[in-house]
Amino acid sequence: MEDIQPFYVMDLLAKARALEAQGRSIIHMEIGEPDFVTPAPIREAAKRALDAGRTHYTSAVGLPALREAISGFYRDEHGAEVSPERIIVTPGASGALLLTVGVLLDPGDEILMADPGYPCNRHFARLVEGKAVGVPVGPDSGYQLNGELLRRHWTKRTVAAMLATPANPTGAVAPDDSLRDMAAVAQAKGGRLVVDEIYHGLVYEGETRSAIAVSDELFVINSFSKYFCMTGWRLGWLAAPEAYVRDLDKLAQNLFLAAPTISQYAALAAFEPETRAVLDAQRDDFRRRRDFLLPALRELGFEIPVIPQGAFYLYAECSRFTNDSYAFALDLLEHAGVAVTPGRDFGANAPERHLRFAYTTSLEKLQEGVQRLSDYLRKNY
Ligand SMILES: Cc1ncc(COP(=O)(O)O)c(C=O)c1O
Repeated sequence: MEDIQPFYVMDLLAKARALEAQGRSIIHMEIGEPDFVTPAPIREAAKRALDAGRTHYTSAVGLPALREAISGFYRDEHGAEVSPERIIVTPGASGALLLTVGVLLDPGDEILMADPGYPCNRHFARLVEGKAVGVPVGPDSGYQLNGELLRRHWTKRTVAAMLATPANPTGAVAPDDSLRDMAAVAQAKGGRLVVDEIYHGLVYEGETRSAIAVSDELFVINSFSKYFCMTGWRLGWLAAPEAYVRDLDKLAQNLFLAAPTISQYAALAAFEPETRAVLDAQRDDFRRRRDFLLPALRELGFEIPVIPQGAFYLYAECSRFTNDSYAFALDLLEHAGVAVTPGRDFGANAPERHLRFAYTTSLEKLQEGVQRLSDYLRKNY
């Protein structure tokens, strides 16, 4: 347990809530989930499932109809044929990441991941006695891994590389040609590429195709949490190479038995056109927020050298103000009434010089937040 770090943002959120309980107003830019509630058609489908008494376990790999629907989603939106047998429905992307790391890593094996990156992944590796190796990414590589970085960091102990696109905390998207290059490197090294597409659907520049279209040999992870606004339903999925399906099934049986049944029935409505219309309108809202917040933060003196194309995060260099972003985040909370996430949640690559701003709150609140930051910084710096 000594190797497992807490999520510092949760400490910060607890402090923010305590201040709110004392009557203070706090603008939340630390929260990593959409502020929108789950669209009505999904909620209605859940009610119907509940009324029909769908309260038992599904099979460990998921409800057949949902696996079919996900397969249809890849066919219709990404032009990729993925048989439903290769799709495993999981408790969130978290479940899919844990299963993937579980089947890929033996004790002592290494897995490459971007630093900064989503922190839970290294802890999943640790749980199965593998080792996460952080590869520093920054403005030079568009805050993403690429084939060249994988070649440079791959060692005899490496068995896989993992990335999220769009990424948390940077919003960086890996271009198609880079995904192909990374898949080729992993294959040439006899390893595996894992692509976490949890922020797919929340991309504001051009079209993004799923990495599933690159090769059947990739592990491609997704979730109903972010674009589909279903964080609390705990539902995600994994499209795996055929050779791993049996092992993943075995592990899922042991770890979770199954993903939540009501959530799976609800998610059947997630791909319906009326749901998608709601979700796409919300995506446009996220774009407007990004288009406001990005120039506003740059204007205040935060450095965001590459335009983040997706997710709902801006990862900003704050060295003009501090070399201790954790203390700075606490100051901003206490004295400006703005909650943000310190870089130390995301790895060892200059975390003390970075903050993550999430635009998971309304444009009006973001405007108020920027005003508060501006007043505070003018007074103190
Ligand atoms: C990159 C990334 N992957 C996976 C997850 C886990 O999400 P969930 O288990 O809700 O699908 C998150 C959550 O923030 C994330 O940012």
